[in-house]
Amino acid sequence: MGFQSRRISPSSGAEMTGIDLREPLDNNQFAAIRQAWNDADGLLVIRDQNISPEQHIAFSRRFGVLQRGEVSQGSLLSQYYLPRHPEIYRVSNKKKDGVPQGREDAGTYWHSDGSWKPAPPMASLLLAREIPPYGGDTMFADLYRAYETLSDRMKDILTPMRAVHSLAKAQETTSYGKDLVGQSNAVVDRYASHPIIRTHPETGRKSLFVNRGFTDNIEGLAPAESDAFLEFLFTHSSRPEILYRHQWRLHDLVIWDNRCTMHYAVADYKQAGDRYMHRTTVRGDAPF
Ligand code: OGA
Ligand code: MN
Repeated sequence: MGFQSRRISPSSGAEMTGIDLREPLDNNQFAAIRQAWNDADGLLVIRDQNISPEQHIAFSRRFGVLQRGEVSQGSLLSQYYLPRHPEIYRVSNKKKDGVPQGREDAGTYWHSDGSWKPAPPMASLLLAREIPPYGGDTMFADLYRAYETLSDRMKDILTPMRAVHSLAKAQETTSYGKDLVGQSNAVVDRYASHPIIRTHPETGRKSLFVNRGFTDNIEGLAPAESDAFLEFLFTHSSRPEILYRHQWRLHDLVIWDNRCTMHYAVADYKQAGDRYMHRTTVRGDAPF
């Protein structure tokens, strides 16, 4: 297969064509995809992948071990996993006989998937199976550039700092959290502390690892200090200059790196039509 890859943004983002993920990939081909993904600063759009759940799962497994539906934790979120394929999380506004066909309003705030976990997922692969005629874009922020565009003095100040990411923060401020209210404490009490400046294990580059959805406070600061610092970092890391806004085409497979990007689902499309997406999630190493 001859892959073509081209940059689509000054921030994270490249597009790949000439691949058919219905066919098995050899190790060299997969290595080329992984390299293109890293070269694109953690965001790769692969066009025209009309693939089955099995093919989506098989390709995703090349990146690592997949997260599975957390049915055993009694979470309401478990209903969104694809029956018989707990590796696939469904994101959709559709309902069939009153039953949601996926999580509605998933990620309608800046976040890096599962950053409240001690070992956040390293990557997510989202496949567009049905899209509205317009709207329903996803925005991505380049967290390498967020780090690189800080002053040297600010980089030094942030380097020893850690922040707490929590589901409780999401619960207060996002619909994701609201779905979890009243669920078992095992689910709602989860949080993790992570360095604010994170080094990517594959590229060796540093990124700014905070997000408005899940990052609650900076360790060791007084609340007012923490709030002011985080407000600056949230604004800095979502400036238009470091964003790419993805306008979905049917059968786009978008692979993002949760270690160096964050994203925001723009929930503006429901008047325009239905949206139905399948996501696989690759587990990360703990701790970093
Ligand atoms: C996700 C997510 C974004 C979207 O699946 O993790 O945030 O645009 N989705 O659906
Ligand atoms: Mn997400």
